[in-house]
Amino acid sequence: MYRKRKTYICPEDGTSDYELSRSNKIAREFDLPLHVNGLGKLDPEAEFLIMVSKQGLYLKPVNEMLALLGSKPIYPDWISTDVFSAAGRKASQPLIKAIRGSKKSLQKGVILDGTAGWGDDTWIMAAFGFSLISMERNKIVYLLLRDAYARAGMRFPRTSSRIRLLNMDTLDILQSLCWGAEHKNNFFPWPDVVYLDPMFPGSDKRKTAEKKESKCLRLLEGEAQCDSEREAQLLELSLHTAGTKVVVKRPKNGSRYAEKVAAPVHQVYGKGIRFDVYMSSK
Ligand SMILES: C[S@@+](CC[C@H](N)C(=O)[O-])C[C@H]1O[C@@H](n2cnc3c(N)ncnc32)[C@H](O)[C@@H]1O
Repeated sequence: MYRKRKTYICPEDGTSDYELSRSNKIAREFDLPLHVNGLGKLDPEAEFLIMVSKQGLYLKPVNEMLALLGSKPIYPDWISTDVFSAAGRKASQPLIKAIRGSKKSLQKGVILDGTAGWGDDTWIMAAFGFSLISMERNKIVYLLLRDAYARAGMRFPRTSSRIRLLNMDTLDILQSLCWGAEHKNNFFPWPDVVYLDPMFPGSDKRKTAEKKESKCLRLLEGEAQCDSEREAQLLELSLHTAGTKVVVKRPKNGSRYAEKVAAPVHQVYGKGIRFDVYMSSK
């Protein structure tokens, strides 16, 4: 479906035995190769290193990726996302307005963030009091996301406690919910809202202007993200599963997601983005 980037787990130079053993553990858990500086040469085909440092994990581009992404560490940083000050909360309003609408009772339901990525939107929604199940199918992205979650949990335990992260394909979960009783239990509650932020279709101009973190997601996931059959399936199943609504993030003047499946009932605009809101067909 997408090309896997050759990624190694690597303890940062100067770290202790703890980071080495953590690197080993992660490598085994995620079935990724381990590279330790000083013990053999790095595979010339390696594209990314996931560095294990005292502060946490970060992604380090190597070879061709270095030319595309630069040398600065890449990692989801929820702690510095401003979601608690008045200005930060104002900036988050379009997303929250699209999710909440006029239904104050929504706070009690669960939001399924079907495209977690670096988790910024998950974090914003959690900071506004929503409970979330956030799904990320790419294991490299998920691994970094899980680390961001752990770090944020130490500073903001109450906000983090509203989030559950899963390394799964949302399509699989939605199919199980729609077609079988397998997940009809406490393990996987039916979501009230399904939120989707699929990779925006990439014009060359947009790709150049993209933030390094978004560019990195595109490189990790590849253009296969924009597969119209899967898009249609994802929206259709989301509409069947959501208790009240589905919200899809789009570029401000971009085309609708999976246009043939359904039309949004309304749209909420933010800076450079738009949220298309669909009523559930459940
Ligand atoms: C544009 S990013 C989402 C960014 C996210 N909203 C944020 O705030 O960081 C899209 C992410 O969705 C993930 N994704 C796409 N389709 C998916 C699916 N069917 N199941 C799970 N994850 C998916 C991709 O791997 C990618 O990381």
